[in-house]
Amino acid sequence: MDSNPVIEMLGRRLRLAVIGGGPGSFIGSMHRTAARLDDRYELVAGALSSDPERSRSVGAGLGIDRVYRDGNELLAGEAALDAGADVVAIMTPNDSHHEYSMAALGRGFDVISDKPITNTLAEALEVLARVEETGLVFCLTHNYTGYPMVRQARAMVTDGQLGEIRLVQVEYVQGGKARPDDPEPDADVPWRYDPVRGGPSLVMGDIGTHAHNLVRFITGLEVSEVAAEVGHIVPDRLVDDYAGAMLRFANGARGSFWVTQAAAGVENCLRIRASGTAGTVEWMQEQPTSLTYKPLDGPVQLRTPNGPGTLPLAARASRIVAGHPEGFHEGFANVYSDAAEAIAARRSGQAADPLTLHFPNARDGVLGVKFVQAAMESSAAGGAWTSATLEVE
Ligand SMILES: NC(=O)c1ccc[n+]([C@@H]2O[C@H](COP(=O)([O-])OP(=O)(O)OC[C@H]3O[C@@H](n4cnc5c(N)ncnc54)[C@H](O)[C@@H]3O)[C@@H](O)[C@H]2O)c1
Repeated sequence: MDSNPVIEMLGRRLRLAVIGGGPGSFIGSMHRTAARLDDRYELVAGALSSDPERSRSVGAGLGIDRVYRDGNELLAGEAALDAGADVVAIMTPNDSHHEYSMAALGRGFDVISDKPITNTLAEALEVLARVEETGLVFCLTHNYTGYPMVRQARAMVTDGQLGEIRLVQVEYVQGGKARPDDPEPDADVPWRYDPVRGGPSLVMGDIGTHAHNLVRFITGLEVSEVAAEVGHIVPDRLVDDYAGAMLRFANGARGSFWVTQAAAGVENCLRIRASGTAGTVEWMQEQPTSLTYKPLDGPVQLRTPNGPGTLPLAARASRIVAGHPEGFHEGFANVYSDAAEAIAARRSGQAADPLTLHFPNARDGVLGVKFVQAAMESSAAGGAWTSATLEVE
């Protein structure tokens, strides 16, 4: 990295505040690392736990200057400062995303939120409306869109290298909830297992939204209808741990969707295949630096980060020369860094580089929540084809 576009536009780094991501959170440190990797942000404030004292002690332990007792105190405190935070990143349990996003946008902060955008469609639409009213940047951390080879696949589709997309298969298979005693029977119910806090479907909120977003990101197609079964495969479990669905796309393409957290021994197998009239691309998250390209009339090829055939959208997502692997942290950081450029452009009144504007936004979040709702309605109706578009609302 030879230059810092945020410094060039604003003369300083963006000031970032975080809500959530404290004790026990895997994703909290991913957010903080992603924000720092390209030096676009400085972390100035945090409310890291739902417990005020823990929030203070954890924030102080991380060396954060301004540590607040909770998210609302943070938003009020930072808004009152001349040099308070510019951007608020939200990584709390799902039921608080709506409240914090609405409050942060209402106070003029740009927002980076973890997925799902909210637990209900009505809430998601409120967030989208507020983003549109305010003109603020809203970035949703569907971080798998930040991998160079995912961006390469998107760019190859846009470039016409696959022809018209006709078939898509996506699977997101994990094994973390394969054991029947998860969660521990005698412990308090973790927020993910409580539908009020975690949302209507555990597996769909946790990973189904990522799979849906990845399909849309790579193909540029919208899912028009879904025929789904959503339920649990571990006996007696009260929440969903798998979902399978057939998809119909707006252009007539067809797809399949398979997500579970109960496949014993599997780690984090997010995998996609998109086939068009001129060829197919295949990618899997556990080997993120290879994109397989199967043209209709030629031998199978590989695309690698910064290797031959890299298109501009993918090239800007790699920091180092070909053959040096990058992974989860760097993909997450790409989403943060692109959002930073869009935020700095907005704040300095400049036009953002169009290549930065591929990070997931509030509309993507709304469509994700709509897809979860449609899949659940379909499942309740015995797998009936159900609209997943917003136009019929
Ligand atoms: N992008 C991804 O790949 C990815 C991966 C995992 C989790 N997530 C998302 O991140 C969010 C958090 O998930 P998690 O796995 O970190 O959960 P977690 O339960 O492991 O951790 C949540 C953290 O937030 C803190 N917290 C809870 N309520 C808070 C509040 N009101 N204010 C401040 N802090 C609060 C808790 O103390 C805890 O430290 C969820 O929305 C989840 O969907 C995204």
